[in-house]
This record gives sequence, C-alpha cells and structure tokens, in this order.
Amino acid sequence: MNDLVVTYGSGAEGLARKVAQISGARLAEVDRRIFPDGEQYVRVCGDVCGKDVAILQSFALSPDRLLVEYALIADAVSGMGCRRVIGAFPYIAYARQDERFSEGEALSAKVFATLIEASGTDAVYTVDMHLHRFRDISEIFRIPATNLSAMRLLAEEYSRHLPPGRILVVGPDRESSQWVKAVADVIPSSCAVLEKERLGDREVRISEISDSMCSTALIVDDMISTGKTILEVLGKLKASGVERVDALVTHVILVEGAYSRLKEAGLNSLITTDTIANEYASVSIAPLLADALMLDAAGKPCPPTFL
Ligand code: R5P
Repeated sequence: MNDLVVTYGSGAEGLARKVAQISGARLAEVDRRIFPDGEQYVRVCGDVCGKDVAILQSFALSPDRLLVEYALIADAVSGMGCRRVIGAFPYIAYARQDERFSEGEALSAKVFATLIEASGTDAVYTVDMHLHRFRDISEIFRIPATNLSAMRLLAEEYSRHLPPGRILVVGPDRESSQWVKAVADVIPSSCAVLEKERLGDREVRISEISDSMCSTALIVDDMISTGKTILEVLGKLKASGVERVDALVTHVILVEGAYSRLKEAGLNSLITTDTIANEYASVSIAPLLADALMLDAAGKPCPPTFL
C-alpha cells in the first residue's frame, strides 16, 4: 500500500481500476447521480486525508459535463483533507482550439487549463495532448503538467504483426510530425508529413502524395473524431497505389459512424489505445499512467514531455 489514492470521473472509471491495480494504490469509489434539473452530484467514498489523490477523467464526447464532474470530485477530495490533487487525464478536450483563428474566438485550450487549475488541481498528467501552436504543455498549464506519449507502445504493438516490405509512415499535417517521428523510431520506415487545410468541422483538404514505392502505409495521428482526416489520407494513398493502409492513433472518439466509413473505404486496421473507452483498443495506457503516478507519489515526477 502506498500514499497514492486513485479515484475517477465517469469518463475513466475502467482505466482508474486498472491504474489502481497496477500501482497498488487504493481505489476510492465515487457515487454519482444527476438531479432532475440536470445538475450533478458526487460523493467520494473512503479516507483520502493526507494522501495524494489521482483523479482519472477522460474528457471525450461530453467534455463540459465531465469537466464539471471533475471539478466536483476535486473539491470533494480537497474537502476531505487530501495532500495533493493530481488530474490524470488520458484525453484532454478543447486542445485543438489553440489559437484565436478569427477575431472574437475563445482560446479554448487555455480556458480549459485555467478551469482545471481553478478547481484546485496541483499537477496534471495527460497522454498525447494535441500540442501544435503551443509547443509544450507548460505553455498551457501554470501548474506542473506532464504530457506522456502512447506512440511508442502503439508502434511496438504494430511491430508485432509487421507486414513484409518497407512501410510508409504518414502524418496528415504538420503537427503530426512529432508522432510520425516517435513511430519511425520503432518501425524501420520511410516517412511523409502532409499538409492539411481544414475547410469546416467535417471537411479537410490534404496535399498530394508523391509515389511512395511502398505497398503498405501507416497513417499516424493523435486522434480520430469524424474520421475525415484519415479518410482523405487513405484515399490519396490508395490512389497512389498503396495496397494496405493501417492507422495508428492514440485517441479515438469516432463520431457519426466514422469507423464504418473508414472500413468501407478500405482501412485495413486501426491500432489504438483506451484513453477513451472503445472496442478497438489493443493497447492500454494504464501501465504508462500508473508508472508516472507512482513516480510522482515517490517525489520523482517525470519530465514535462515523457515519451
Ligand atoms: C487535428 O489536427 C488532429 O490532429 C486530428 O487530425 C483531427 O482532430 C482529426 O479529426 P477528424 O477525424 O474529425 O478529421
């Protein structure tokens, strides 16, 4: 038994159980309900007094409700006298609006971080946060924050079933170059990083792919939401003669039938994690988070970006 207690919001209950089991930390259960008017109620069960409490929460699909739920849990454990509140967020929402692209827009990534800080959080751990215009997580959070990466684990999983021949690792846009590099460090490959122009919430335009000379391609990105980004790259690869296309992605949100559309378009396989609970995950990030939290509880936090 150590000084770490793990608890959870409804976005990461399953992962919290795994992290607690791996780290040997005690799991504090949470009672939750929704009042008839839509407000949320939480109650954390068990003693957390004097402990470091890691609250696992993944902010996909209902980010606003999950953020309020997180803030309620953070307040609950603070009120119970915990030593520190650690936000352990497998998936952070609002990170893609990392610039005021037009006059009058909110800088959502910063707002989200400010709300996490205001809820009494002492430190943050997350996984493959969408870092683009902010190059480092420390530019977004003012509290200690660490961005872990699942890319190596995903690449190792892909390596276990490596197809014959040279593989082309493809990133859809400039920000994906960091993930392409991490994957190419594990898989002997050629690399291509394309240009993406976003035309709307569900439309993107991808630059042309020059003849790849590879029969297999692996598209690498941080997340799939509508699937349009992967779909466009997949189409370009197929048109350039690539026979087999796989996708390797940390976070899958997969809204509006995205998975079926990708399969119909000829995607061979999707290699992904459980940062957001989903049926396709073949890699669990629980050991990654458990290791980071155990180091933190031992007073040896990982560096800000920990691949
Ligand atoms: C944005 O730049 C991200 O890295 C992803 O490429 C994007 O969010 C994927 O979204 P969608 O699946 O809706 O194209």
